[in-house]
Amino acid sequence: MFPDYRPRRLRKNAALRSLIRETHLCADQLIYPLFVVPGKNRREEIVSMPGVYRISVDQLAKEAKECLHLGITSVILFGLPEKKDGMGSGAHAKNGIIQTAIKELKNKAPELLVITDVCLCEYTDHGHCGCIINNDVDNDATLEILAKTALSHAQAGADMVAPSDMMDGRVSEIRAILDENNFDSIPIMSYAVKYASAFYGPFREAADCEPQFGDRRSYQMDPANSREALRETTLDIDEGADIIMVKPAVAYLDIISRIRDEFDLPVAAYHVSGEYAMIKAAAEKGWIDGERVMEETLLSIKRAGADIILTYFAKDMAKILRSRR
Ligand code: PBG
Repeated sequence: MFPDYRPRRLRKNAALRSLIRETHLCADQLIYPLFVVPGKNRREEIVSMPGVYRISVDQLAKEAKECLHLGITSVILFGLPEKKDGMGSGAHAKNGIIQTAIKELKNKAPELLVITDVCLCEYTDHGHCGCIINNDVDNDATLEILAKTALSHAQAGADMVAPSDMMDGRVSEIRAILDENNFDSIPIMSYAVKYASAFYGPFREAADCEPQFGDRRSYQMDPANSREALRETTLDIDEGADIIMVKPAVAYLDIISRIRDEFDLPVAAYHVSGEYAMIKAAAEKGWIDGERVMEETLLSIKRAGADIILTYFAKDMAKILRSRR
């Protein structure tokens, strides 16, 4: 063939390269995670996640405006309650931390899409994602608490709920309680494929949800499995999920790609805390160019097939995208 086709012809300058670019990042398909804490005037950097803060409710409006200004139209909320108990009852408290945060955001920045993480691990004193019966995370007893939690988020004004607990059957339980209470238009973004991953380390510091005994392997997926990811996704879609999520992202690009090929729902990928922290740490040491590695990483997630990316880099990336316009 050579020299009939010369791939370098189309790489000659920036205009040509952008003309044939296959994948694009855009701020409105990035979801920015927010950690909300009780109290006033709090803005505390998370040690293992430089640039990410735990903030109190009164700081949310400012954060929301900044996101919207940068073109980020969605956030996902995580809450740290005043106190924890065995059943995670703070998760569905009427004036709990998340319920209060939702109201504040919908009040001050109504156009921002507010998504809530539905899970119990930040609210249980043992740190597991469900309640414990006979030394085990009890699946069916947990479903009821999760459903109540999702309903309380919808009642506070959440635009979408995102169950991340990995209990069997939680999507249908949540769909049912939302529908019964006239929230049939609230979508569910399910963490359909969530692995038992060591990449969640910094998040557990951020959200104070490290399990006090055992680990999460009896409910989160084995990192060695990919066919199981298809089964999990099929179940969640049958139960009523509107968006399916894969988590973590970079170590599971093959899974994102398979899910994209096999299903036609929107696919989200969670670029998790450890994936963020590794890039930040190496960049701080001067070993990599943090900004370029960030963009390359997010592009790889998009290229693998994710429509939506949840990432702590959302604001950093959006700033760069904005500066190019
Ligand atoms: C709650 C939850 C976790 C994350 C999101 N929701 C922690 C976990 O399952 O241990 C991790 C997010 C991240 O690491 O950025 N279950």
